[in-house]
Amino acid sequence: MNITINKERLLHDLNAVSRIGLGDHGSVTRLVFSIKELRSRQLLIHLMTQAGLKVHIDRIGNIFGRWNGGNPKAPAVLAGSHLDTVVQGGKFDGPVGVIGALEAVRSLKENKLPLACPLEVVCFVGEESSRFGFSTLGSSLVAGVVHIKDLANAVDAHGTKLEDILSSMGIYRDNLASLKRAAASVKAYLELHIEQGPILEAKNKRIGIVTSIAAPTRFKVVYTGQADHSGTTPMEMRKDALVAAAHLITYIEEASSEYSQMDKGRVVGTVGAMKIEPGVINAVPGKAELSVDIRSISAGAKERVARLVMDRAQEIAHLREIAVEILPIRDETPVPLDEGLLPLIKEICEEKGIAYEVMPSGAGHDAMQMAKITRAGMIFVPSKRGISHNPMEWTDPEDICLGAQILLETIVRVANEKT
Ligand code: GLV
Ligand code: MN
Ligand code: MN
Repeated sequence: MNITINKERLLHDLNAVSRIGLGDHGSVTRLVFSIKELRSRQLLIHLMTQAGLKVHIDRIGNIFGRWNGGNPKAPAVLAGSHLDTVVQGGKFDGPVGVIGALEAVRSLKENKLPLACPLEVVCFVGEESSRFGFSTLGSSLVAGVVHIKDLANAVDAHGTKLEDILSSMGIYRDNLASLKRAAASVKAYLELHIEQGPILEAKNKRIGIVTSIAAPTRFKVVYTGQADHSGTTPMEMRKDALVAAAHLITYIEEASSEYSQMDKGRVVGTVGAMKIEPGVINAVPGKAELSVDIRSISAGAKERVARLVMDRAQEIAHLREIAVEILPIRDETPVPLDEGLLPLIKEICEEKGIAYEVMPSGAGHDAMQMAKITRAGMIFVPSKRGISHNPMEWTDPEDICLGAQILLETIVRVANEKT
C-alpha cells in the first residue's frame, strides 16, 4: 500500500477535538447531549464537509460522512467510534477512532484510490454510559437493538429521563427501530480505539486485534431505610440504608474476584455511582441508590455473579429490615467479532513487521452493537500504563498514526474483498 495517512493533519484534528470540554489537569468532559458534546459533533461535520464527504445525520445525531468511491450502489464499509466522554476523561477514548477513520478516508479520497464500494466515517452518539447508565446508545439504535424495557431506568443524576430526550428528537416507544440501518447497506464496520488496558504496553506490542467484547449487566439497587437524627437515634434502632449499601459493595468485590481469573470468565464488578438521601452529616441515611456494573467475556460467569449480587442485596435488606428494589438497566451478551476480519488485519501487521496481540476487549464499544448487523472488527493501540477514563489517559502519537494507517489498509482490503 503506497497511500499513507497525513499524520500531522490527524494529530491536529485530534487535538482540536480534545480542546472541546477541556477541564482541570487536562481532563476532557463531553457528556452525551451536553453543549460540549454537540460542539464536538459540529466540528466533525465541518471537517467532513471540508473533506468533501456527503454528510448524513440521523435523528439521534449519529453522523455519517460518505465517500462513494467507485460503486455507489454497493454496501458501504463503515469506520468510526464516538466523541462523547465520561466525566473528567481523557482525550483519546473515542476520538482516535472517529478522527482516525476520517483521516483514513480523506487520504484514500485525495489519492483517488479506486474502491469497489463506498466508505462512511461514523460518529455514534452516546457510547459512554456515564450520564444515563445506558451505553452505545447511537450504535444500538442503528443496530435496532434498543428495547422499551432498556429505557425504563435510564435517568441521569438530575432526574432527566433518556426516554424524554429521545422523544424530543422524534424517537418514541413505537418507532425505536426506525433508526435501524439496513444490514444490506453495510459491508463491514471497523473501529480503531485505544486499548484502555495494560496488555499491549506490557507485551511491547503496537497493535491489538480484538476477538470479542465483554458485555455488561447493569442495574440499580435502591435501599430504603429511615432517615433519622444522627445524634439521637441509638445504633440498634437505626435503619441505615448506606450501611446496607456498603455491605453490598464489599460483596460485589468479593463475588467478582472469585470469577476474575481468565479461565473463570474474567468477571469485573463495580459500583461507580451512588446517591444518598438526605446526604447530610447529621442524618442517618434513609436512602441509598447504587449503580452496579458487572462485565465478563463469559455470559455464564456474568449471569452467575449478577445473580449472586442480586440475592445478596435481598438478604442484606431482609437482615437489616429495610426495603430494597432492584431496577434493571441493561443486560447484554458478550459479542464475538468477525472471524474473517481478524486474519486480514493480522496479515497487514505481518506484512509491515508490526508486533500485534490478538486479544479480547474488557471495555464496551460501538462495534459490539454493529456486530449485530454486519461483520465488525476492531484495532487497538496501546494505552500508557493501561490508564483510561481518566485525564492521564495517553497513547503515543506515533501509535495513533500507526493505528490509523492499519485502519486505512484494512478499509481498502475489506472494500475490495469479493463477497
Ligand atoms: C466504555 O467506555 C465502557 O464503559 O466500556
Ligand atoms: Mn469509554
Ligand atoms: Mn470508547
